[in-house]
Amino acid sequence: MIDYKSINTPVLQCTDMKHSLNTNGNTISILRGLNISLLPAKVCAIVGPSGCGKSTFLFLAGLLDRPESGEVVLRGKTMTHASDRERTQARNNFIGFIFQFHFLLPEFNVTENVILPMLKQRKLSITEMKSKAQNLLTDVGLGDKADRPAHQLSGGEQQRVAIARALANSPSLILADEPTGNLDLKNSDRIFNILQRISRDKGHAILIATHNAELAQKCDYILHMQDGVFI
Ligand SMILES: Nc1ncnc2c1ncn2[C@@H]1O[C@H](COP(=O)(O)OP(=O)(O)O)[C@@H](O)[C@H]1O
Ligand SMILES: [Mg+2]
Repeated sequence: MIDYKSINTPVLQCTDMKHSLNTNGNTISILRGLNISLLPAKVCAIVGPSGCGKSTFLFLAGLLDRPESGEVVLRGKTMTHASDRERTQARNNFIGFIFQFHFLLPEFNVTENVILPMLKQRKLSITEMKSKAQNLLTDVGLGDKADRPAHQLSGGEQQRVAIARALANSPSLILADEPTGNLDLKNSDRIFNILQRISRDKGHAILIATHNAELAQKCDYILHMQDGVFI
């Protein structure tokens, strides 16, 4: 087993990240100089009131858009000025996303949903993909539901499929935006415990935007976002 505690290169570093949005001709400053450095095998919560910029931050950290200014460094490589192609590749290979709404393909079975990111990456044979999907599904407690259509699963189970899908390409970084926002207490706890365990066992760095204070307390770090900065 790798000792992730001995690895000191941050998975994600953001420096002085600024971003604004245009609405109806008005420019609103959303992020006003965010800094973060996240090591492997660490779980970090981002908390703050609705509308403070948590989702915007995860979106930019996930290379889905470019910040207006500042740096995003992924696994030691500056991504801010990388080409679109490089950024897409980095996103597919190194980042997994989990959202409040799972965005599974309802008519596809659970295994097929988990395999989708692997198909994009094109590194494994179909047999290897299926076997990896089965392992991931077992990890999230759904080993026996692999052949079920996604829409037949409960909300909590669907979110666990979404976790397995986020892990499909063994990402270094997992970005989770209100991953338990749609779930009851018992399922929220279960999802959170799974995230914590996989981070510890496999070294994923995890950023979780949440307004669940109890859940945030269990993370390795808590960053409070207010008026576009971490306080
Ligand atoms: N596409 C958009 N166009 C205009 N304003 C937006 C857009 N997305 C988000 N915002 C605004 O940006 C701010 C930050 O939003 P968001 O990052 O979603 O906050 P949070 O996730 O913390 O609730 C809010 O004031 C929101 O209204
Ligand atoms: Mg949000």
